[in-house]
Amino acid sequence: MQTTLETLFTPAEFEALGQRDLSHTVCVVFDVLRATTSMLTALHNGAKVILPVAEIAGALALRGRHPDALLAGERNGVRIRAAQTGGVDFDLGNSPREFTPGRVAGKTIIITTTNGTRALQACVGARQILAGAFLNLSALARWINKEQPPHLLLVGAGTFKQAAYEDTLAAGALSDLVWGQFNQPADSAQIAREIYLAGRGDLSGAVERHSRNARRLLANPDLREDVPFSIQRDTVPFAAFLKDGAVARMT
Ligand code: MLT
Repeated sequence: MQTTLETLFTPAEFEALGQRDLSHTVCVVFDVLRATTSMLTALHNGAKVILPVAEIAGALALRGRHPDALLAGERNGVRIRAAQTGGVDFDLGNSPREFTPGRVAGKTIIITTTNGTRALQACVGARQILAGAFLNLSALARWINKEQPPHLLLVGAGTFKQAAYEDTLAAGALSDLVWGQFNQPADSAQIAREIYLAGRGDLSGAVERHSRNARRLLANPDLREDVPFSIQRDTVPFAAFLKDGAVARMT
C-alpha cells in the first residue's frame, strides 16, 4: 500500500484543497506564530473547546449563540477592538501567553485570526484535522504512529499570502519524527524536513533570522515573548482535533 507524506506551504495551496478528495487524508495544520500555538495553550490551560472562524463577523454571530464564550483573535497581529467590530472589544488577542488558566479554564473560546483559522477550515473534508505546533510535536507523532494514516498532509498556515518559515520548520520536525512510516514522501515533505534538519541546532536563531512573523513579534515589546514561547517543544501532551466546527483535545 502507498503511504504518502506531503507538505503545503502557502495559503494558495490550502485554498485549493476543496478540489481534492481528502477522505483518506489526515491534515495537521501548523500556525506556530501563533494561532495553533494559542489554541493548544488554551486547551492545555483548561478551555473547554475552541471555535475557529475565518471572519470577525462570523465570530460575533457565533457569540450570539454562545453568550458566555470569550472572543479571541487578531488582525495585523493585535487584538480586535471595538472600532473593527462595530462596538465589541475582543476579550483576548492571539498571544498564547494570554490564554492562562485564570482566563480560559472551563470556557468556550471563539477565535478568528488572519491565516490559522482559515487553514483549519480549508481542511474540512479530511478524515481528521489536527492542530499542530512545536508545543505538541511528540503527542502528534504518537497519535500518527498509533493511527497509521495512509496519507498525511502537513499544512503550513503561512503569513498573509506567503509561506512562513516557522510553519515549514514545524512541519519538517514532525516529518522527521514520523518519516519511517511513509513509503512515498513527496518532495515537499523532504524540503520541510531538510529545512528543519538545517535549523534544529539553533531553532531560536533560525527563527529570528528567517521568519518574518518572528521579526514582527520581536519588534513589539508586548508580543516579543511569544516567539520563545511558541518554539518550546512538547509542553502540551495531547493532540487536538477540529470536528464539527470545534477544536478540542483528544480524550
Ligand atoms: C494568523 O492566524 O495569521 C497568525 O496566527 C497571526 C498572528 O501571529 O497573530
